[in-house]
Amino acid sequence: MIQNAAMSKDRKLIIANWKMNCLLSDSAKLARNINYTDNCDVVLCPPFTAIHRATETRKDARIKLGAQDCHYSTKGAFTGDISPAMLRDIGCDYVILGHSERRQHHSETSALVNSKATAAHNAGLIAVVCVGESLEERDNGKTLEILENQIIDSIPDTSTKDNTIIAYEPVWAIGTGKTPTPAQIEDAHKFIIKTVNKKIGFKTRVLYGGSVKAENAASILNIDGVSGFLVGGASLDTESFNNIIKAT
Ligand code: PGA
Repeated sequence: MIQNAAMSKDRKLIIANWKMNCLLSDSAKLARNINYTDNCDVVLCPPFTAIHRATETRKDARIKLGAQDCHYSTKGAFTGDISPAMLRDIGCDYVILGHSERRQHHSETSALVNSKATAAHNAGLIAVVCVGESLEERDNGKTLEILENQIIDSIPDTSTKDNTIIAYEPVWAIGTGKTPTPAQIEDAHKFIIKTVNKKIGFKTRVLYGGSVKAENAASILNIDGVSGFLVGGASLDTESFNNIIKAT
């Protein structure tokens, strides 16, 4: 049977993580110029303040919106926090959780990521759960152990194959220009797929993140087990990001 590209499980997913960048004007400019292609799903994750502007100005309504974090409660006395319901309300379909910058700078544990992912699922969001080892952990041969613990502890029981995506982001590759070898990426992705399957009983999509750029996108996408990208720095440049989308 010929599958519609949109239905194919091989369809790639490219997520832009704008991090703490983009005033409203920058956000509109980026959103207006990012192309949609039938070859992949495209998701923009602006900072909270720019989500609405990106929704209004995106070139194509098939480009989806996401946030970079959320709280684990629906509402209440949590000064400064944003709930999953608020993200749905503003038009988000996705939320990135447990990014290493949040694990590092906000001391987020996998248990907290797990409760955030549960809340995200209950609100109807797709959780993009980030895992990845530090350079020291890799050098000490602990990569698989770290990935396994992060996955087991971060993925909640509410996970299904449709509402959970894993992003493999080796901490040492984020924003450094360094990327793992194809064999290292393949090993990590296969291990993640196996571990998620063991815990929840489904095969999940695993994105790669860490110094993805137009120049290395096509070759990384060819690696077995890579379902797409979580892109930081290169997603802030329209041409680079469009070229990454094109590589699919
Ligand atoms: P980078 O960031 O593409 O700038 O390395 C990736 C990420 O942190 O999600």
